[in-house]
Amino acid sequence: MSDTTTKDKKEEFVEYLKDKTNKGLGQSALMPALHKAQEAFGYISKEAVEEISCHLNIPSAYVWGVATFYHYFSLKPRGKYIISACLGTACYVRGGKRILTKIKEELEIEMGETTEDKMFTLEAKFCLGCCGLSPVMMINEKVYGELTTAKVSQILKELKEDGKSAD
Ligand code: FES
Repeated sequence: MSDTTTKDKKEEFVEYLKDKTNKGLGQSALMPALHKAQEAFGYISKEAVEEISCHLNIPSAYVWGVATFYHYFSLKPRGKYIISACLGTACYVRGGKRILTKIKEELEIEMGETTEDKMFTLEAKFCLGCCGLSPVMMINEKVYGELTTAKVSQILKELKEDGKSAD
């Protein structure tokens, strides 16, 4: 992510908060503001919390409290691609563990970690709702089913190449 892009996103986020302030919204705008921050930056940064606190006139400790309460919000930078490896029963019995091991090996990260280049974050899910396709993983919004270790390698290879070409 270039500095210009980050700067633009920060400015856009502050404008969003100013708009909420102008509309007289305080605490009722907190959840949407946290969602907005996560969407813009990929996680809830200290800086974003301070901006929200300042513009919506809510103590920063309270903003942190809400951000940490909901598991949806990440407090650490995440990758461009969020991989949700399914550890549910159906996936497990059909080789989900082998798939998870392969993802970890390919990306050289453990569960909950992000690759150094900020391309991939690995998370666990306990049933993605498509057991018929098990073993399954989801990358951002896309579901990949009937996985084999070879398929995982191919998918990650394509995304790595895609990421490089987008830089
Ligand atoms: S157990 Fe994996 S999708 Fe349901």
